Amino acid sequence: MTPDPRLADSAFLKAARGEPVPHTPVWFMRQAGRSLPEYLAVREGIGMLESCMDPGLVTEITLQPVRRYGVDAAIFFSDIVLPLKAVGLDLDIKPGVGPVVADPVRTLADVEAIPDLTPEHVPFVTEAVRGLVAELGGTPLIGFAGAPFTVASYLVEGGPSKEHARTKAMMFGAPDVWDALLRKIAGISAAYLEVQVAAGASAVQLFDSWAGALTPADYRAFVMPHSARVLERAGALGVPRIHFGVGTANLLGLMGEAGADVVGVDWRTPLADAIPLVGDRVVQGNLDPTLVFAPTEVMTARAAEIIEAGRSARGHIFNLGHGVIPSTDPDQLQRLTEFVQGFETSR
Ligand code: CP3
Repeated sequence: MTPDPRLADSAFLKAARGEPVPHTPVWFMRQAGRSLPEYLAVREGIGMLESCMDPGLVTEITLQPVRRYGVDAAIFFSDIVLPLKAVGLDLDIKPGVGPVVADPVRTLADVEAIPDLTPEHVPFVTEAVRGLVAELGGTPLIGFAGAPFTVASYLVEGGPSKEHARTKAMMFGAPDVWDALLRKIAGISAAYLEVQVAAGASAVQLFDSWAGALTPADYRAFVMPHSARVLERAGALGVPRIHFGVGTANLLGLMGEAGADVVGVDWRTPLADAIPLVGDRVVQGNLDPTLVFAPTEVMTARAAEIIEAGRSARGHIFNLGHGVIPSTDPDQLQRLTEFVQGFETSR
């Protein structure tokens, strides 16, 4: 598929490649989520995973924040557990709870029973991405997948978890099962990214939201090789790769080394502290998502500090330090978008 020629001017893609930009590009993790009234309206009475399998709905929801805010990138509307559902696992996303798995994975036989993902499992993804890319024109679409550790946590725990105790018990106590499980998920996540890029996504983000539960040594030994395999396969597609986790202050170097072009930084680590840790890489982030609840001038003053700090990196993509909080006022995100995009030129 031939990329839209206007993508050559994309501030997001330029920043992701470490090239000079006309303004600091901005998008928001979970921008297509529950903070938009138009999202809630189209989702009325339709389950989350059901929505993800409906190309018309996926297209509409992905476009909503782009229309409203004029952000520099769209993120594909889906979920990190969607590929597991697509290969046949019995799971659901419960409102206000998150992914819930009917039969948690505990043994090697459980792992071996999970099919690998092929494009035939997700024809609705191919269809939605193709349509979206045509509609988005010069705005790039970010494809995404869950990283092996974070997805494993849902599969092993059977649902959301604070401590990831069962997951880490498998990691420490049954390394053969662990290795097989992470290999399996890495293959599924990589294949899922390949489908999105083949259909026209022009960047990818690997979400390892819960990697912050690990020490650097355990991350390096038990997790990093698997994430690295996903990022390597994504790298072969020639698109920029963003690698993001939460609470990862002491993992940022390793997350870069795993094969990222862009390292996502959560809000707990000042961007200026993160930059020397990621080597010659682009950074993404990292406004505290609760700052949108502060007065506009407090929010924009913090955003300005982050943009200034980002100047010492190879490149900087502005984002929140984690997803948009559902009760966020969309008008405040609109002001933030305008502030970031106007910052360089208005000085
Ligand atoms: O706007 C976007 O960023 C694109 C869509 C997107 C969703 N999930 C849609 C969604 C993306 C990128 C994700 C990734 C995702 N899903 C992650 C990684 C990002 C992160 O936040 O750390 C994780 C850990 C999940 C698993 C998951 N799915 C959780 C924790 C939840 C929230 C549960 C809740 O309701 O509080 C979901 C559900 C989910 N995924 C919703 C959306 C819009 C809400 C479902 C609904 O509206 O009914």
